[in-house]
Amino acid sequence: MKFLITAGPTREPLDPVRYLTNRSSGRMGYALAGAARHEGHEVLLISGPTTLDVPAGVDFIPVETAQQMYDAVQDMIKGVDVAILCAAVADYRPVVCAEQKIKKQADKLVLELERTPDILGSMRSVFGFEGKLIGFAAETNDVIAYGRDKLVRKKCDMIVANDVSKPGIGFDSRENEVVLIYPNHEVYLAQDTKEHIALQIIEHATIIPS
Ligand code: C5P
Repeated sequence: MKFLITAGPTREPLDPVRYLTNRSSGRMGYALAGAARHEGHEVLLISGPTTLDVPAGVDFIPVETAQQMYDAVQDMIKGVDVAILCAAVADYRPVVCAEQKIKKQADKLVLELERTPDILGSMRSVFGFEGKLIGFAAETNDVIAYGRDKLVRKKCDMIVANDVSKPGIGFDSRENEVVLIYPNHEVYLAQDTKEHIALQIIEHATIIPS
């Protein structure tokens, strides 16, 4: 099968030397890419900036901004069987990126932000993607309810949800504990390394019925 996986944070520039970003390490997405390749699949990884090595045998497109990630996914989605959108895409970006470095001036500086394009939400409606679609949901409360709502709204086949308020898992850590949310049931995966969780997610992803 052909997999497309997004990973990592995005960087939204403010001026030539500054940007808005988040704490995503990219580990979960890179582990998914490695696991899918290990299982013999063709894998394209589209990732924001991380310090990680691209797993061997995985095709790779590096991007920085949410817009660049959106464009790369749109360009590459044809022929993909399974898309796993794991990137921690910035929800907002500065309305303008200053051409020169912003100078210190008043005591307060107000930034105007606008929404970034919703890649997961565009997969069915804009890109016409008809393969298996898997999204991630990082929540701090009501994990199942929010995850299920996202599953329906974004027309996903599965949402991988985790509770990011729990210490030692999720963002910036080596381990994760997730719930796979399907239209009619849930599967709990116990806390484990992101590599082991990734293998289980890939196994589940490949057996989603058409
Ligand atoms: O709504 P929320 O940002 O929590 O949704 C998370 C899911 O949506 C993840 O799968 C993430 O990769 C994806 N996403 C996206 N484009 C955005 C924001 C989130 O693809 N602009």
